[in-house]
Amino acid sequence: MKVLYAGHPSKWPEYRSALTNAFAAAGLTAELSDDFPAAEVDYIVYAPNGPVRDFAPYTRAKAVLSLWAGVEKIVGNPTLTQPLTRMVDRGLAEGMTEWVTGQVLRHHLGLDRVITGGLGWAPQVPPLARDRTVGILGLGELGRASAEALARLNFNVHGYSRSPKSVPGVTCHSGPGGLSDVLSVSEILVLLLPNTPETENILNAETLALLPKGAVIINPGRGALIDDDALLAALDNGHIAHATLDVFRIEPLPPEHPYWTHPKVTVSPHVAAETRAETAAEVIAENIRRSKAGEPLLYLVDREAGY
Ligand code: NDP
Ligand code: OXD
Repeated sequence: MKVLYAGHPSKWPEYRSALTNAFAAAGLTAELSDDFPAAEVDYIVYAPNGPVRDFAPYTRAKAVLSLWAGVEKIVGNPTLTQPLTRMVDRGLAEGMTEWVTGQVLRHHLGLDRVITGGLGWAPQVPPLARDRTVGILGLGELGRASAEALARLNFNVHGYSRSPKSVPGVTCHSGPGGLSDVLSVSEILVLLLPNTPETENILNAETLALLPKGAVIINPGRGALIDDDALLAALDNGHIAHATLDVFRIEPLPPEHPYWTHPKVTVSPHVAAETRAETAAEVIAENIRRSKAGEPLLYLVDREAGY
């Protein structure tokens, strides 16, 4: 069995070692390389910043196993005829939970004013978390983990997803009306939706206007969830107080983009959560084991829904 590593070349040494260990632990005998002839490859370990764009020559491949959670760059690829799985990794979930919690606490506690000394000796006591409402759009692997962590800190958390959900400590919304119900109460809004045709520009002039005045937006989901011009207008007219953005339509964010210099925007270079080689390799190995045993693959992407 030949497994092709088609992730980012700089990560190959790390993944070679992690995948080798995970295959051994799963009892798999595999040849692993970043350079097999396409027609000999059985499984492709894929990332959008890796070398493979055309899957047609991989005639033997039984599955494409994404190292990324977000699959918008591959899901519509017409050459992809093999099953596609996405990454669900406990390292990703832990990283995202920590990043989201940190960003929410920054705004909840008004830490910028303290760090820059802008308060002087004029104490402004922040409300308790129980008196702060945080909305989370997307209650999947990462949204749910983040929502649970914020709920454990006592935030009043509302979440929104496509299908109905039940998350301890979180008021869950779905379906028509669910989005506006969440937006209308969210003092801090976190976007953890995938980028699909349905979610593109989900935050636009109309939906931004539903947020309470002075709301803060935190986007570790995908850049295309936000209509950038509408967000800039809402920041400029004071309706939105701040946006912390980790993801962008074009990455790296072009140097001339107004987000870089906007006083109410924090640019973060797509670092909210990274797939961790050690834990991700276990997920890849388990899926290859399943494929060989004829068992259903974990985390299969719904090609129609786009995530
Ligand atoms: P999941 O697929 O587990 O969760 C997606 C959630 O979004 C689900 O709750 C889903 O609803 C909901 N959803 C999808 N479409 C809609 C819609 N049209 N309306 C309402 N809800 C919708 O994804 P993950 O939680 O694993 O990841 C979320 C995203 O985070 C990724 O797609 C990626 O873009 C981003 N990401 C960013 C990283 C970073 O470093 N910045 C790192 C990793 C991921 P339902 O539950 O009903 O299906
Ligand atoms: C991912 C990401 O989707 O890093 O995994 O954004």
